[in-house]
Amino acid sequence: MCGIVGYIGDLQAKSIVLKGLKQLEYRGYDSAGIALMQEDTLQHTIFKDIGRVSHLASLVDSVSDARLGIGHTRWATHGPVTQANAHPHQSRNGRFLVVHNGVIENYKQLIKDYLNDEVLKSQTDSEVIVNLIALFAKTNPVPIAILKTLNLLEGSYALLILDQDNPTVLYGAKHKSPLLLGKCPKGHILASDMLAMCEEATHFYAIPDQTLLTLSEQHVDLSNLEGESLTLTYEHLEMDALQCDLGNHPHYMLKEIYEQPTVIRRIVEKYYEESLLSDEFIQKIKAAERLYILAAGTSLNAGYIGKVLIERLANIPVEVHIASEFAYHPPLLVKKPVFIMISQSGETADLRACLINIKKLGFPIFTITNVKTSTLAREADDFLEIFAGPEIAVASTKAYTAQIAVLAILSEALGHHYDMRSKLAQVAQSMDYFLSQASHVQNLVKMLLTKRNAFYIGRGLDYFVCLEAALKLKEISYIQTEGFAAGELKHGTIALIEKDTPVIAIISSLSIAANTESNLQEVKARGAKALVIATDDLNLSDVDIVLNHVDALLTPMVTVLPAQMIAYYAAHMLGYDIDKPRNLAKSVTVE
Ligand code: AGP
Repeated sequence: MCGIVGYIGDLQAKSIVLKGLKQLEYRGYDSAGIALMQEDTLQHTIFKDIGRVSHLASLVDSVSDARLGIGHTRWATHGPVTQANAHPHQSRNGRFLVVHNGVIENYKQLIKDYLNDEVLKSQTDSEVIVNLIALFAKTNPVPIAILKTLNLLEGSYALLILDQDNPTVLYGAKHKSPLLLGKCPKGHILASDMLAMCEEATHFYAIPDQTLLTLSEQHVDLSNLEGESLTLTYEHLEMDALQCDLGNHPHYMLKEIYEQPTVIRRIVEKYYEESLLSDEFIQKIKAAERLYILAAGTSLNAGYIGKVLIERLANIPVEVHIASEFAYHPPLLVKKPVFIMISQSGETADLRACLINIKKLGFPIFTITNVKTSTLAREADDFLEIFAGPEIAVASTKAYTAQIAVLAILSEALGHHYDMRSKLAQVAQSMDYFLSQASHVQNLVKMLLTKRNAFYIGRGLDYFVCLEAALKLKEISYIQTEGFAAGELKHGTIALIEKDTPVIAIISSLSIAANTESNLQEVKARGAKALVIATDDLNLSDVDIVLNHVDALLTPMVTVLPAQMIAYYAAHMLGYDIDKPRNLAKSVTVE
């Protein structure tokens, strides 16, 4: 959701910024822009338009040898998708340029108090920032003008600022929206995430909130919003650009689906060989009267599985809450809660809103995340990494199974020995087996799905997988899909079943197999076209996708795979942009 990249140094800024924007495409966007500053002529050039980064690249002059540049991918919040609303935005006097990720909540008030609204060229909240800087710069040095502006802003921002009168400096500022500083052999990069800098930078710094940065090729000055200097401590950047490479796969989603067995084996190795769960950490969680899992989307669906795992293996009650609901409508809490935030990106704004509230109450929080440098990893008391490697496709796949694997290992550590290590190894094997012959799912999709609607039904753990399966199918194929508790269907929703409505049943446990099968008969009797995904230990007849069985508590890690493939092939069949579905962003940094 909005991505920003800026470079200052000795290399061609155009190619570094465009490459960075390309790497940030996965975050979701609808328009893109770049500004390049020519040091010798004090001239800047801006290119921006709706559409893809490849389109933007075709607009940028091939000759630009500027050494300073900023770029942006916009995911519209304030104002529709238009060229005027795309970033960079320029101050009325033409001196300053800004790209912004975040939301300025008080922008209307700021226009009223400081700016004549006739001057604004866009409908964005961001344009206010650049004009405030220009206003204050009339009577103040630029860093002071920026600080004055930042102190007026309410909301969130990651900002890059160019001053046409000083082409040897790049300014950056951060509050609540992600921004990392990368140190390169020849210059500095500021970007929304590591993917945009992993080819150039050798070290990075996760910039804290309320920070202003002043960068030149050689130097970085950091200050807080009072103008007091801060110290900078770099960490080694471990990410390998190859991790983000598509390899032989046509789409990141498919690549990431196929990576799952490897990710599970990596998690097992990390957690069991390196003993990542300290006694102190486990004791802190065990002291809880109740655990509260907070998450959104796919991570929320992993949270439901986590609840079952923790309650069964550790005997600690767990509540699972939608982050955006919990933030403003929290339930009555027990006296000694511990909070678990699950977030692939570690940047989800709904979760951050929860984190701020919970911190005020003084309760312990830890995050389960794929990005150890993320805001939620840094701001929680502790974090557990899922080691899934960069997840680029907007539709989350490997993060889901990795989150469940970490929750399973945690559940065992909180409870009793369950031989989770070998049970997870069996999961990886079962995944391998399914993936080795998964291409036949394409034919099933062609026979079963239409554009209109679909249902996933299941009971118990299978029901929670149905929620994730439905989310996957709808987000990339735009087929309206519901994940339903099989037994609940007859209480209303069965009214939607008509001739050829696709209904997919997930069955992984003997105790509920007969009931789910009879629910399937009920919909078939009303004309539904059915498809059954089941594990081989149940010996059911009429199964379309048979999976090698695994431990009863870990079945979601295997039964979700066919659902991921069904979503992938459905979007493929319908000709949609699989990795970048419409309206969606990879990390959702607005509430
Ligand atoms: C799932 O495919 C989506 N990309 C989305 O639901 C996602 O899981 C949700 O936005 C939460 O993101 P997070 O895990 O990064 O917090």
